[in-house]
Amino acid sequence: MIDLRSDTVTKPSDEMRAAIAAAPVGDDVYADDPTVNTLEERVAALFGKEAGVFTPTGSLSNQLGIRTLVKPGEELLTETFAHIVRAELGAGAAFSGITTRTWEGDHGLLVADDAMAIARPDSGPYLVSTTAIAVENTHNFGGGTVQPISEIRKLRELTKKVGIATHLDGARIWNAHVATGIPFADYAENFDTVSVCFSKGLGAPIGSMLLSTKERVAEARIWRKRYGAGMRQVGILAAAVNFALDNNIPALADDHRRARVLADAVASVAPTSVDLDFAHTNIVVLNLEGSSLTAPELNAELKKVNILASALGPKTLRLVTHRDLSDGDIATASEELAKLLQRAFKA
Ligand SMILES: Cc1ncc(COP(=O)(O)O)c(C=O)c1O
Repeated sequence: MIDLRSDTVTKPSDEMRAAIAAAPVGDDVYADDPTVNTLEERVAALFGKEAGVFTPTGSLSNQLGIRTLVKPGEELLTETFAHIVRAELGAGAAFSGITTRTWEGDHGLLVADDAMAIARPDSGPYLVSTTAIAVENTHNFGGGTVQPISEIRKLRELTKKVGIATHLDGARIWNAHVATGIPFADYAENFDTVSVCFSKGLGAPIGSMLLSTKERVAEARIWRKRYGAGMRQVGILAAAVNFALDNNIPALADDHRRARVLADAVASVAPTSVDLDFAHTNIVVLNLEGSSLTAPELNAELKKVNILASALGPKTLRLVTHRDLSDGDIATASEELAKLLQRAFKA
């Protein structure tokens, strides 16, 4: 199978497994796991933050960030197709008692003025008060798009003036960094809380982290335990992350190159289905409007030729490249996709 469903499907390499086997461990709920402690310090330093807390998932690190920024009954703003509001199953409402409103961005891209246009800080006793804004970089459902640093900085400036906090869902901030060369800390300095994931393109089997001030991370650590995610000898997982950080960041450029090969192949037969200006990183989202196939139907056809993709909606299909794919896989997938799309857009 050529698995283009997500970059979360990667499996730990033999070298990563050796690092896992060799990891010194301890009980992390007692802060006794040396590998976790070192990793938390390492990632916090990389992003220029005071502290970090290791979590099993990016959804949890997002939710812990939001938890520390937004009080029950207050409001978080984000983009309409952000993971936080589309794919965390209402966790902000269910866990933290917060409400959300959204603005829509072209391919998920941030325009600071659009976010601020719907912000209502300090609304008093009648309307909901906005206390935080979340930005996703890269934007998953937007097609792996990289948020412009100029808009991020502008948002920081505008929110600071009115006392609104900012959260970065940086599940794929690694990809943004590789695509732009912008240092992690330059992104992170614009946010009060930052969530990063190690289990996507970096290839670790599990793991994310929330980064912020010491005080906020201490609070997030309490909530992590309260949510049932206090972990014990979890250094075996932190060792996988250390291995990924040491070895797997530069190869993300290959994922980006391969995603572009797929996007080019699609554009050559179905130019309306993909906008090459937005093929920034490792995700290609196809718009099948005007084709005879729905996304689930195209998915089923692809499966017949051993290719897996994700149907995000009736006419939206997502392809994601990752480190367990080869150039040969991408050539095969490009050819099969082009064949199917040529027919589907003609019919
Ligand atoms: C942008 C973004 N944020 C957060 C997450 C959540 O990560 P997890 O699946 O580890 O909860 C994902 C997962 O795909 C994601 O794409």
